Amino acid sequence: MIKILVNGASGRMGRAMASKILLENDMEIVAAVDVKGAGADIGISTGNPATGVLVEDNLEAAIKRTNPEVMLDFTNPQAVMKNIRTALSNGVACVVGTTGLSESDLKEADDLARANKTPIFVASNFAISAVLMMRFAAEAVKYMPNFEIVETHDSHKLDAPSGTAMTTAKMMCANREVFSQESPNSFELLPGCRGGDYQGARIHSIRVPGVISLQDCIFGAPGQLLTIRAESTNAECFYPGVAMALRKVLELEGLTFGLDKLL
Ligand SMILES: NC(=O)c1ccc[n+]([C@@H]2O[C@H](COP(=O)([O-])OP(=O)(O)OC[C@H]3O[C@@H](n4cnc5c(N)ncnc54)[C@H](O)[C@@H]3O)[C@@H](O)[C@H]2O)c1
Repeated sequence: MIKILVNGASGRMGRAMASKILLENDMEIVAAVDVKGAGADIGISTGNPATGVLVEDNLEAAIKRTNPEVMLDFTNPQAVMKNIRTALSNGVACVVGTTGLSESDLKEADDLARANKTPIFVASNFAISAVLMMRFAAEAVKYMPNFEIVETHDSHKLDAPSGTAMTTAKMMCANREVFSQESPNSFELLPGCRGGDYQGARIHSIRVPGVISLQDCIFGAPGQLLTIRAESTNAECFYPGVAMALRKVLELEGLTFGLDKLL
């Protein structure tokens, strides 16, 4: 039995993942943490029978009382590094789906994991379709180096661009020269309308209600266009990747970034 603490247990992803973990034979939710919804039974709040595991708002106290092996974190970009520091310094391995981590955050997480001999796994997207999209896009850019990324998420998402868009752009730009795709005479009538610039490629973030996650990698060359699209239509699509990470994280060392490393 892998003993799991779910952090962000009252949120969309926390509840969706907890509802699946509760059905597994080799995993057990020993604690549920969230700054909202304290006192709710994690079973009942996810449509399962009562478990007796109640949402609480103090991560460190929950760790010390329940001694979990792994913290699953789906909280928010402002909270996640503090959660990681608390978990790793208490010897609790981490599986992190929360997005918005910077390169320096990832470096700190790796250093902390090694210093505490406690592994951490981070993925900006746990859906297999997104992992394949990134892999195919990184291949396509070798032959069609002009590209832009358009990512769409629900309007509640705090960070932009999405973690998936940034990971995709980094993988793609590692396979092409840095160059500007703009005409030297181009200009914006409305500042920002050309999106964010990552090594000369543009990333556009759309935020509207009703979307889980959608990303198009659009390539152009004279006379031809190629679009590679990944779409998540419900939060369940993330669970197989999350379950894989929960089962494998204790065998890892330091920081491991990206679901492709586990496939
Ligand atoms: N990696 C992936 O595959 C993937 C997929 C979907 C969403 N996400 C990311 O997961 C995160 C959560 O997404 P969501 O849709 O569930 O958001 P949400 O807003 O529905 O849930 C976040 C929860 O975290 C809680 N929270 C905030 N601060 C906290 C703290 N300090 N301690 C404990 N709990 C805290 C909030 O109260 C909320 O219940 C976001 O960063 C999102 O981008 C990642």
